[in-house]
Amino acid sequence: MLLHIPQVLSREEVQQCREWLTAADWVDGRVTAGSQSEKTKNNLQLPESSEAAQWLRARVLEALGKSALFFSAALPRKIYPPLFNCYTGDSNFFGDHVDNAVRTHAATQTHVRTDLSFTLFFTDPDEYEGGELVIEDTFGCQKVKLPAGDMVLYPSSSVHRVEPVTQGARICCFSWLESMVRETERRRLLFELDSNISRLRQAHGDDETAVGLTHCYHNLVRMWAST
Ligand code: NI
Repeated sequence: MLLHIPQVLSREEVQQCREWLTAADWVDGRVTAGSQSEKTKNNLQLPESSEAAQWLRARVLEALGKSALFFSAALPRKIYPPLFNCYTGDSNFFGDHVDNAVRTHAATQTHVRTDLSFTLFFTDPDEYEGGELVIEDTFGCQKVKLPAGDMVLYPSSSVHRVEPVTQGARICCFSWLESMVRETERRRLLFELDSNISRLRQAHGDDETAVGLTHCYHNLVRMWAST
């Protein structure tokens, strides 16, 4: 499942973040690449321990914590500390690659199984040419380029790439998460059930049916989630 989550960050929050991103010192993005992807990766990243990355990471995690749609779709158990990248000038693409199944955070020695990947955009589509995130999976090939503040959530099991940025700069936050519900089909079913319960509650309030279905939802989560 590929999910577009609009306005994870407001326009004001994006603006604040961009001030940090503009002033930051960027390094070669291959610092976090595995041996296979370092051959196809050519972009810039913020050093994980830099002041800018720490400030920005806190803002993104705060915003994710407030997004009901993100929670419902991902059921996150562990989020790898988000990273920040920039595609511009000669550092402008990331060819076809797969993300490592497990990421270990060096500072904390925490292991995160990558069930879902996300990209949160800080630049608007009209600020750069190219730079589409191309995701190939069972749902076919999808090209993603979203407004600043919006996010895409997609399976970490996919093959994906970022097309060359031929003009301007594409700045994003990206990371991976381990879900409380490991199986994609179960996670998807829970998301669809939760979404439909929300629509039902909006239309009819918390009537007996809505309460009954909410009961089923939580019992399914209880059956399938590991915390
Ligand atoms: Ni990737």
